[in-house]
Amino acid sequence: MNSAIQSISCLLASLSLAASALAQTNVQTQPPGPLPAAELLENNPAHDARIAWWREAKFGMFIHWGLYSTLAGEWQGKEIPGNAEWIMAKAKIPMPEYENLAGEFNPVKFDAEEWVRLAKDAGMKYVVFVAKHHDGFAMYDSKADDFNIVSRTPWKRDPAKELAEACARHQIKFCVYYSHNLDWHEPNATASRDKGPGSDCDFGKYMHDKALPQLRELLTGYGPLGLVWFDMAGGMTREQSQPFADLVRSLQPDCLINSRVSKGFVKCDYLTKGDHSIPTQHSLGDWETPDTMNETWGCQKFDKNWKSPDQVVFNLVDVVSKGGNYLLNVGPTAEGVIPAPCPEYLRAVGSWLKANGEAVYGCGQSPFGGEMGAESPTEKDPKTGKPVFIAAKDWRCTAKPGRLYLHLFKWPAPSFELAGVNGKVRKAYLLDDANRTPIEVRQTGDNVSLSLPEKSPDSIATVVCLEVDEADRP
Ligand code: GLC
Repeated sequence: MNSAIQSISCLLASLSLAASALAQTNVQTQPPGPLPAAELLENNPAHDARIAWWREAKFGMFIHWGLYSTLAGEWQGKEIPGNAEWIMAKAKIPMPEYENLAGEFNPVKFDAEEWVRLAKDAGMKYVVFVAKHHDGFAMYDSKADDFNIVSRTPWKRDPAKELAEACARHQIKFCVYYSHNLDWHEPNATASRDKGPGSDCDFGKYMHDKALPQLRELLTGYGPLGLVWFDMAGGMTREQSQPFADLVRSLQPDCLINSRVSKGFVKCDYLTKGDHSIPTQHSLGDWETPDTMNETWGCQKFDKNWKSPDQVVFNLVDVVSKGGNYLLNVGPTAEGVIPAPCPEYLRAVGSWLKANGEAVYGCGQSPFGGEMGAESPTEKDPKTGKPVFIAAKDWRCTAKPGRLYLHLFKWPAPSFELAGVNGKVRKAYLLDDANRTPIEVRQTGDNVSLSLPEKSPDSIATVVCLEVDEADRP
């Protein structure tokens, strides 16, 4: 009996030794540096299932709203240019003074229903709300840390809860942004304002006392989240980034994680391109471009460089035609209002999408490419020495099985010529024509010519739908 127990415990001990040796080998065989781009994105059936809604959605609303909104780009009577949500760092505002802003934060005009309705009217399918930005101030009712909107402001409400509920009422996916690395309120956050990585702060303490508990609150208190949008992981190691992704996966396996969760160490669902950055040509894999209605994320009263509805539609279609999603930011005021002219412009985008959404939602990239522009044969970038890319903006193409959508931004009357069409065009019509009156098509091989009305029926862009039989090659 004794010897049986002994041999079992011996076996267990050697199994556990073997397991730890294996674990060590695993650790050692992991590549030391960032994963190559192709391996960074999850690629399996579970990923395909959870990202299906996002591939369909294409267009989302980003909302940067926080204590910085009370300053709106101005400190001590001076304009502080640039990203207004960075005002504390840019104007070197001491934390105690910045903290005082909470006492003034009283957004009496906030109405979650109105914001979500605006997103819906704009044709957006998800909302990404900044739950905590780099200033460390939680815009929701956090029990893990008292520097939050409910504890510190006279308003005492939880806008994240109200937005999550409004989103649920309108079938909009509610998502959160969480600054997991930068936290200027926490001396232990690695990239704390005045410290670089390698300083003596205890990131583990910040991570376990604040960041992970807050992420847990967001993942457990606000219903199913469409995605968690992480940001600015510079300086974080693999070991510091992985627990954030693990927590999301363990609490909400259907929730997406963007690539900014790490500096290339941690598998994620899609790639976030640089701010405002739309690739010049097709880009593979799931990706998004985050962009702004004017030039900054947080409310900035001096920045009047608003994108017109035409520009927003062009950017959205441009992104979709290259394979991505467009996440467009609004920066509400401290009163809780999405500033003019955003509502008007976004609603104009929404009416265009009402007529032409079939050519955006769920669409894949263009089978062509020449319409995006070309490298200049002569001009070179002085920095890289590479040819400069000259973008063309006359038209874009998006696609679904058996259908090509030609978005004509510059009207090409009397006819539009298209080369490289793979299959027989069975039918062509304007997408916003309820009668689907056929457009005359002439096709020779893969060259197609379409006869168009003299004037563009839509001042933003008219979409021509081509129904194509790929099995039938003329
Ligand atoms: C940048 C900025 C940040 C903003 C984000 C949105 O990383 O630091 O303020 O939230 O971009 O993409």
